Amino acid sequence: MPSYAVVGGSRGIGLELVRQLAANPDNVVFVTARNKAKSTYLSALIAESSNRNVHVVEADVVDARAMKTAAAEIAKMSGGALDVLIHNAARMEYANLFKAFDDYETDDQLDAEFIESFKVNALGVVHSVNAFLPLLRENTTKKIVIIGSGAGERSLMWNVRMHTMVAYGTSKAATNMVATKYAAQLESEGFTVVSLSPGIVDVSGTAVSEFDDASKAELARQLESFRKAMPDVDLTPITPEESVKTLLKIIGSLSVADTGSFISSFDPRFAQTST
Ligand SMILES: NC(=O)c1ccc[n+]([C@@H]2O[C@H](COP(=O)([O-])OP(=O)(O)OC[C@H]3O[C@@H](n4cnc5c(N)ncnc54)[C@H](OP(=O)(O)O)[C@@H]3O)[C@@H](O)[C@H]2O)c1
Repeated sequence: MPSYAVVGGSRGIGLELVRQLAANPDNVVFVTARNKAKSTYLSALIAESSNRNVHVVEADVVDARAMKTAAAEIAKMSGGALDVLIHNAARMEYANLFKAFDDYETDDQLDAEFIESFKVNALGVVHSVNAFLPLLRENTTKKIVIIGSGAGERSLMWNVRMHTMVAYGTSKAATNMVATKYAAQLESEGFTVVSLSPGIVDVSGTAVSEFDDASKAELARQLESFRKAMPDVDLTPITPEESVKTLLKIIGSLSVADTGSFISSFDPRFAQTST
């Protein structure tokens, strides 16, 4: 029975990962959510699922102790082992997402957004991997998938000259480096550790807030810069269903030869599996 932990599965891409993994009755799916009671989409998914193979535990990735407690709870249900860890949680604070360095009203607001973004998008990943490592070491699969972002990829950001999304992009660059460090540390133990981008995904169906007009305009401007830099690439946002179908095919095909890589949505494997 392959076992998966999805960290941050209350909505968006994480929720869809849970839905598609749970659709296979052979899988057992452990999910972390910050607040079970408020995770209404996840509760509905579990209520509708006939497979009874989803187990939710509460934890905020910022809190290292809470992550270890969550992993210990999961270990009790899983016999102490886990096959695949998918770290999906990230801070996507719409009010600040599209800001440039000098768009913040005060220096304190700039600092606060950067600190919170690094706590979730860099340290949060470390808390999550550290907590689940003992379980992953008990099985032979040993896969750690960290959901990354093109917004954290230096060469892409330079090619499209994107000067906004500063806190998110800088902290997602750190996400990729966290994955690289773990890959280097765990290579000799036979682990596969990758950072995997989901593509441009429309998660508005489960979002907690909407983009304001300025954010919508900035998003349109960004997509236009992408189109100019990469005229042959289809940049139409995809659905969570489409994205996760591809992500799970890639995750299933990963081997130790892939460890240490950042797999972007422009990777040929993405194009081959997305249709
Ligand atoms: N959507 C895209 O186009 C896109 C593109 C590139 C990369 N990504 C990456 O894909 C992943 C999922 O993004 P998404 O678009 O699905 O975002 P989303 O809809 O905003 O979902 C974010 C998820 O992260 C959780 N989360 C946030 N802060 C957390 C914390 N401190 N502790 C635990 N969980 C926390 C949220 O839980 P709550 O419900 O508790 O807030 C939610 O489940 C992220 O890693 C993101 O960087 C997305």
